[in-house]
Amino acid sequence: MELIKVTTEVVPHVALVEINRPKEMNALNIQVITELVGALKEMNSDDRVRVVVLTGNEQAFAAGADIKQMAEKSEAEMTASDEFRIWDEITRFPKPLIAAVSGYALGGGSELAMMCDFIVAADNATFGQPEVKIGTIPGAGATQRLTHAVGKSRAMELMLTGRFFKAQEAFEAGMVARVFPTSGFMEEVIKLASEIAARPPIAVQLAKRAILDAYEMPLAKGLMEERKKFYSTFSTLDQKEGMRAFLEKRKPNFTGQ
Ligand code: HXC
Repeated sequence: MELIKVTTEVVPHVALVEINRPKEMNALNIQVITELVGALKEMNSDDRVRVVVLTGNEQAFAAGADIKQMAEKSEAEMTASDEFRIWDEITRFPKPLIAAVSGYALGGGSELAMMCDFIVAADNATFGQPEVKIGTIPGAGATQRLTHAVGKSRAMELMLTGRFFKAQEAFEAGMVARVFPTSGFMEEVIKLASEIAARPPIAVQLAKRAILDAYEMPLAKGLMEERKKFYSTFSTLDQKEGMRAFLEKRKPNFTGQ
């Protein structure tokens, strides 16, 4: 069975990637993540794809790493195989990657959503980092990314209790960018994705990279990098077209160059 379903032109320039392990609540075993990383690699070199939406199904985005696959492993086995390292590849995807979360996004499922550039949630979405309830801790970024998103106090309360929380709370805390009604959710997400896909792709990717620098660099370096990228957009045809179209009071026609 295909664990990852890819539809490249769900609308022009938008690819939809669906996690497809419904009986196990989309639990993320190593095969799912390996297929996902492979699909992202292909989409990176596919010029038709400008924006990728990652989603699950209405019940679950993903209920976490696969507990069956790891329950009996020893520390030595976990460390030596380091199979979770491959998850890092997802954060290196250069095109905009939107997590569309409906249903459960728990443990590694919530961490996978946070590895994307932003999260949009259906109002039925349930988030949580329940790892402490099963004797472990988050291992794919939540102690860092959730803390950046919601601040130390809320992050502590959420991750030390492991309690579940709903889309609206995640939105108010700053973890989620937009919440849409569950009925018609994917249509709204695709509309949002096509809005981004209509923007000049080089500028969009540079903006994405510069925003991620805010997490990874000291402020002064991040500001320098931003200015360099800003100047570099002046070597693109789309910058000329965008600014000329503004001055000529017409719609721009971007070519991606
Ligand atoms: C393996 C899982 C699973 C998981 C659900 N299933 N989550 N299998 N790993 N993470 C399986 C169940 O065993 C069950 O299989 C089937 O999916 C349906 O789940 P139920 O529990 O029967 O459904 P329900 O009662 O509706 O509860 C849904 C749920 C619950 C709230 C999502 O399944 C749940 O709490 N899941 C675990 C959540 C969790 O602890 N996640 C963190 C994992 S640790 P059978 O065969 O019985 O039908 C983690 C660490 C990340 O993610 C580290 C780095 C990546």
